[in-house]
Amino acid sequence: MSNWPVHAKITGPIVMIGFGSIGKGCLPLIERHFDFDKSRFVIIDPSEIDKDLAEQHGARFIKAAITRENYKELLGPLLTEGGGQGFCVNVSVDTSSVDIMRYCREIGALYIDTVAEPWLGFYFDDKMDNEQRTNYALREAVLEERRRAPGGLTAVSCCGANPGMVSWFVKRALVNLAADLNDSHPEPKTREEWAALAMRLGVKGIHIAERDTQRAIHPKQRDVFVNTWSVEGFLSEGMQPAELGWGTHEKWKPGNAGEHKTGCGAAIYLNQPGANTRVRSWCPTPGAQYGFLVTHNESISIADYFTARDASGKVLYRPTCHYAYHPADDAVLSLHELFGRAGRIQPAHHILTEHEIEDGVDELGVLLYGHSNNAYWYGSQLSIEETRRIAPYQNATGLQVTSAILAGMVYALENPNLGIVEADEMDFRRCLEVQSPYLGPLVGRYTDWTPLTDRPGFFPEDIDESDPWQFRNILVR
Ligand SMILES: NC(=O)c1ccc[n+]([C@@H]2O[C@H](COP(=O)([O-])OP(=O)(O)OC[C@H]3O[C@@H](n4cnc5c(N)ncnc54)[C@H](O)[C@@H]3O)[C@@H](O)[C@H]2O)c1
Repeated sequence: MSNWPVHAKITGPIVMIGFGSIGKGCLPLIERHFDFDKSRFVIIDPSEIDKDLAEQHGARFIKAAITRENYKELLGPLLTEGGGQGFCVNVSVDTSSVDIMRYCREIGALYIDTVAEPWLGFYFDDKMDNEQRTNYALREAVLEERRRAPGGLTAVSCCGANPGMVSWFVKRALVNLAADLNDSHPEPKTREEWAALAMRLGVKGIHIAERDTQRAIHPKQRDVFVNTWSVEGFLSEGMQPAELGWGTHEKWKPGNAGEHKTGCGAAIYLNQPGANTRVRSWCPTPGAQYGFLVTHNESISIADYFTARDASGKVLYRPTCHYAYHPADDAVLSLHELFGRAGRIQPAHHILTEHEIEDGVDELGVLLYGHSNNAYWYGSQLSIEETRRIAPYQNATGLQVTSAILAGMVYALENPNLGIVEADEMDFRRCLEVQSPYLGPLVGRYTDWTPLTDRPGFFPEDIDESDPWQFRNILVR
């Protein structure tokens, strides 16, 4: 271990909820970049699989599941004992972000998570309708909590790679695009100015465009769901309705689209599972590709953040925004197997560790499309080889997430009184400054590809030739 920059001091205990693929990857980054008392680092997880690893690093391991019934009783003493300001890092599944962030703010602790997570049972509750099972609803609950208790201690909501880092990429990409299109306005400082910039540049939409080429050494076995990060997390979001921020340029809507009557109004959902919804998109390495339109918090928060309104509040502009995710090939096969039997989940789950991957890159970025330079991708191309060299206990997918958590924690410590914040509202330059050493090459690429390139082929298609960037052309039907 050597001269890693120490970004901030954590004066109280650190309590990490969940010690799965992301928790394990966070551990070495926290050790490297914060000044804190190791004997006050606590990890809580109902599974003891990695207890030894936690203890080798001097952390105290508590075997427990955080639940609606016990979270205050368990977390209260852990986050406050010994004085100083505690920091809660929530990287588990099935623990309510809203309840835990509210409680942390009440007892004086900082808080960060990577998804707006509900308590156990939400995702597969067949008594709820599809609208209630959306990320829109989960995000609105976080926004409602912010309205109920504005200001106060910082709680960073949804700060992983995506949601999280990609919101910082959108701003970096807009600044690059503004320079290339000779936009002469000063760099935006407020949300309104950012929305005005996106509108001025003519950005019709944004894909969170990802291609994970990490290849397992051993082929996937039948009846096993294989992924490069949480299988549970991916299944939960993959079985939620597909959701997307809905742009003002759209002229057509799928017949099974649902609209929300309350809340920010920035998104719609489709009455079909996101992990079985394909879209046409583009990444630098594969070029044109299919991705899955899996619902994500950032599809809604980015569309909401970049909405421009007139003085009366009427929406003048909003970009369409959604995920276009081509996961690792084994995960694609896993989804194919799962939906081939009407969504019955495989009995075994496996997350590929850094030692089980032959080669590959997680290419994760944002594709800003519809402007006068057509489309611009900006993102991280982090390989498994580089990941193994720079940080232990994780693959490339994991490091893009854990380094965003690191950036979010630094930001919270440097700005401890911002209330509840989303990644879109954070200082993208500072966050990327902290995170960039862990992201491999950060590249910007223009492409002349559109969703109508090489179409139609032999068969007639229902397309809109007047505007290639209509969702009608992007959605695979
Ligand atoms: N924003 C992003 O970019 C991003 C990326 C990857 C993962 N995530 C999210 O981060 C979280 C963790 O992902 P992961 O890959 O480490 O998942 P994982 O499945 O590898 O690990 C989750 C861990 O949480 C533990 N856990 C389950 N219930 C718990 C409870 N009630 N209390 C405490 N611990 C509990 C499990 O035992 C497991 O060890 C998930 O919610 C996932 O969706 C976000």
